[in-house]
Amino acid sequence: MNDTPLLAIIGGTGLTTLKGLELTRREAVNTPFGEPSGPLVHGLLADRRVVFLARHGYGSTIPPHRVNYRANLWALHHCGVGNVVAVNAVGGIRGDLAPGGLVIPDQIIDYTFSRKHTFFEEGLNHVVHVDFTHPYCATLRQALLAGGRAGGVEAADGATYGATQGPRLETAAEVDRLERDGCDVVGMTGMPEAGLARELGLCYASCNVVANAAAGRDGDTITMAEIEENLNRGMERVRTLLEYTIPLIET
Ligand code: HPA
Repeated sequence: MNDTPLLAIIGGTGLTTLKGLELTRREAVNTPFGEPSGPLVHGLLADRRVVFLARHGYGSTIPPHRVNYRANLWALHHCGVGNVVAVNAVGGIRGDLAPGGLVIPDQIIDYTFSRKHTFFEEGLNHVVHVDFTHPYCATLRQALLAGGRAGGVEAADGATYGATQGPRLETAAEVDRLERDGCDVVGMTGMPEAGLARELGLCYASCNVVANAAAGRDGDTITMAEIEENLNRGMERVRTLLEYTIPLIET
């Protein structure tokens, strides 16, 4: 039995399997918060033990607002995970963040609502407030950036992620407001996932894949076909970035 903390990868839209993952076993985990999105997939990637979980389920059937984020994070923590790399599709707001590109965000603004967003609400001896000044793990962010450079798939360093409720995309005016607020990218799955990871003391960072220019930024409307095409290109880059990042992650 190896006690080294495990690395988990949470795959988002367009990443329900990890090419190159040598599967060792699947593990169904029951949690006090209900069912995770699916069984945890244990395997070897770049010679390292990793755990993979598809956020939207292996058939991509769970929409962002219905993901059981608490069960997912609790299950990973329960299985000995220490580091979590989250992959999230986003719309690009900042001009230099083009579709198909990668971004390692460093800040979050949370616009989601009605999601189960904390582990600290029942059976408490005292109220708990976790520090969330820097929402992503600095060490893991740097590893992702270095992995991208090493693999020739450079990712933009730093962006503010605006987390919206979905599942619909935003209006052009909503994106204007997000931009005024300082958001560089917009997505539906970054929260409460990052906050819950922090509550569990996990080292959590995210790799965003720009699926489209955010609403009103380029062209008149956004089609699922363009999102899919850009995600396919972007996910190839994510796979390379992960392969080069894994050896850099300290345990
Ligand atoms: N908005 C919110 N979430 C997204 C988008 C978007 O434009 N593209 C991919 N996920």
